[in-house]
Amino acid sequence: MSANIEAPTQNVVVADKLQSFASLLSDTAASIRGGSLSLESNTLERLKTISAAKDTVNLIKAASDDILDWIPTLAQFASIRLFFRWKVFQNIPIGGDARISYRDLAGKVGADAALIARFAAPLVATQFLHEPVSDHVAHTLRSQAYTTDNPISAMMQMVFDESLPALCAMPAYFDKFGLKEPTGRLDTISAFAFGQLGRSVWDILKDHPDRLRNMMLAMSAMEQKFPSLGSYDLGWALAASKGNNRAVLVDVGGGKGHAVKAILQATPGLPAHRCVVEDVPKVVEEAKLSADPEMADVRFIGMDFHAEQIVRDALVYYIRRCLHDYGDEECVLLLRHISDAMATDSRLLIVEQVLSKPPSAFATAVDISMLAIGGKERTLEGFKDITGQAGLKILQVYWNQGTDVALIECVKA
Ligand SMILES: C[S@@+](CC[C@H](N)C(=O)[O-])C[C@H]1O[C@@H](n2cnc3c(N)ncnc32)[C@H](O)[C@@H]1O
Repeated sequence: MSANIEAPTQNVVVADKLQSFASLLSDTAASIRGGSLSLESNTLERLKTISAAKDTVNLIKAASDDILDWIPTLAQFASIRLFFRWKVFQNIPIGGDARISYRDLAGKVGADAALIARFAAPLVATQFLHEPVSDHVAHTLRSQAYTTDNPISAMMQMVFDESLPALCAMPAYFDKFGLKEPTGRLDTISAFAFGQLGRSVWDILKDHPDRLRNMMLAMSAMEQKFPSLGSYDLGWALAASKGNNRAVLVDVGGGKGHAVKAILQATPGLPAHRCVVEDVPKVVEEAKLSADPEMADVRFIGMDFHAEQIVRDALVYYIRRCLHDYGDEECVLLLRHISDAMATDSRLLIVEQVLSKPPSAFATAVDISMLAIGGKERTLEGFKDITGQAGLKILQVYWNQGTDVALIECVKA
């Protein structure tokens, strides 16, 4: 006999949520007061608290409350982008009780004081900037991050300059091309937004070195989420490398070789001269110019990963943070080139974000940004599908603890 369990009413769900949030807040506050926790330095606890707060707010929100989010968020975003561009943040003094009047600040950046005060207002209203006394503004810890070029300020610029135009172009794009999932890398929503249909994102960015540089800096913020190997042990490849001359590790789309460098450091005995970093010729040239002594023996090869893989029979092929730039068809072709080059005992290691079910709000937002450039974030089933179509089989998945990033180990099917 099945028990008759009634679903809780919405009011009970809300009450439970409020209660669990209240106890989380009370425990967190006690830990802070007791000196065992600082939300400034403990990123995981901070993110947990923010996520619980957002979940609670989302549960109790009414449709009319959404407007209270979207409009202020967009206004803040515009203010931050403009203040960064006009070097307003750089001209607000830092430290102690430092502050500056809107009039003096406007004088320093060559703007009207009224304009600066108006764009500052959405930031003051959301504690991003601080107004200690009337008509004066001061930094907060958050705003100070925007006084220099760094991965956080680069990410802000990238989202504003690259993603927002694509989001705004989406209605017209789908009107024109139909309600189909965009898959190619040439006629992307982003290319459409910039009037560059027929060109890939990387090709378009070649004409804009500043935007490309900024994108690379922004990407380095994401990179920290991705381990090079995590818990995966390359010991088997080290053993299999004895007594032959096969390439041991080929990092496909490996940028300047930072993952190979980390892997060499983490795997004593791995022969650097049998490790390869492949990327487009321009990136490879730059990597060679940097002449990192730790990478002196590593081979750098300029290539196109959409074409045939030139290093055959390597023990390990490795591809990190590249597949999500492409739709399924492009990925299958790319993986097929690797699979064709693999020997029966070769392994392919794919390091990517893997969408959980249900995915986090952030992961879904990244997926929509990828959609704009013809790319895609995938669930594990999504990876099974594209690897399967490319003649590969997933052997094992190694999760990076506490994140949705995984290393997916594949062999030839
Ligand atoms: C998001 S980055 C990832 C870099 C590196 N794997 C990592 O995890 O930091 C994508 C890389 O793919 C490279 N790339 C883009 N198109 C390529 C192509 N057609 N052939 C080879 N590499 C390419 C880019 O230059 C860039 O280094």
